[in-house]
Amino acid sequence: MSDISPPLTLTSIQVLHQQLLQQLEQVSSLADLEKIRPDLTGKKSPLTNMLKMLGQLPPDARKELGGFLNKVREEVAAKLEERFTSLQQQALDQKLMQEKQDVTLPPRPETVGKIHPITQVIEEVTQIFAKMGFELAEGPDIEREYYNFTALNFAEDHPARQMHDTFYLPPAHNGKELGGVLLRTHTSPVQIHAMRQSAPPLRVLAPGRTYRCDSDATHSPMFHQVEGLVVDKKIHMGHLKACVIDFCQSFFGVRHLKVRFRPSYFPFTEPSAEMDIGCLRRDGKLKIGEGDDWLEILGCGMVHPNVLKMGGINPEEYQGFAFGIGIERLGMLKYGIPDLRAFYDSDARWLQHY
Ligand code: DAH
Repeated sequence: MSDISPPLTLTSIQVLHQQLLQQLEQVSSLADLEKIRPDLTGKKSPLTNMLKMLGQLPPDARKELGGFLNKVREEVAAKLEERFTSLQQQALDQKLMQEKQDVTLPPRPETVGKIHPITQVIEEVTQIFAKMGFELAEGPDIEREYYNFTALNFAEDHPARQMHDTFYLPPAHNGKELGGVLLRTHTSPVQIHAMRQSAPPLRVLAPGRTYRCDSDATHSPMFHQVEGLVVDKKIHMGHLKACVIDFCQSFFGVRHLKVRFRPSYFPFTEPSAEMDIGCLRRDGKLKIGEGDDWLEILGCGMVHPNVLKMGGINPEEYQGFAFGIGIERLGMLKYGIPDLRAFYDSDARWLQHY
């Protein structure tokens, strides 16, 4: 449309009005409509130009023509929107007509997430001990040296405290003195937290993450343990043995599991033992519950009187037993996983398999 505006008369307005409506009629696509939109109602359209020219007219003519011009403008704008909506509907109808659904296509394969094998093992272990009346307990991953070692009766010069085994945190943060803070090296500090939280009798189970400076096919700097603690009156080694034997039979699904307890040493138990289960090693494979070989499965013992005292419990009145089991190891044994590092590779195909 030309930029030169026609003279401002009733007739010229009527002519323009008809022209614009005709243009709108003729337009047949959304794209074309957008092209002519500025000519219809834009800032530089003839209609707007006419409105601007109104000011030059004498008041009477201005009033008459102004009223008319505004009506025309409103009508053109309304028709424009109407046309826009109908063209949009047309375009959509056309698109739907073309996009026919092919109901014979096979469905896309669905991928379903899986529980990580470590979590599966923790759940299985928790369920077995829950049936024996154990309750879940928790402690922090970032632990005080005091709970991780001192309260568990570790001597000041115990080698486990050494820097090369333990991840120590900087002694100060943002100018605040923190003292001995570390990533817990085992779940045993939860024993102290549990004893300080509730009075005996206690039956607690504490699965969780643990950390040590170690990394190879059978060690990861982050790994998982589950801690068990029972404190009551007249608790003895027989209770401990029955409890961990029951657990192993349930977990490995072997009723007549051969077991043996070897004397051992842990600062927080006295006496201390390690439990082995009977197995068969042949052709690089391992079968639990058969053969004449032995496999270490957990550490345990009677809670040291000093540890009971640290937990605020009178060792003259109460006794307890405790055990600690490596979760990764349980998973590797039960599911025949040879390399520990596979647990942390986050390979979806591997995870899907277990
Ligand atoms: N905390 C020990 C470790 O990490 C495992 C352990 C041994 C836990 C004996 C216990 C226990 O509760 O009684 O090697």
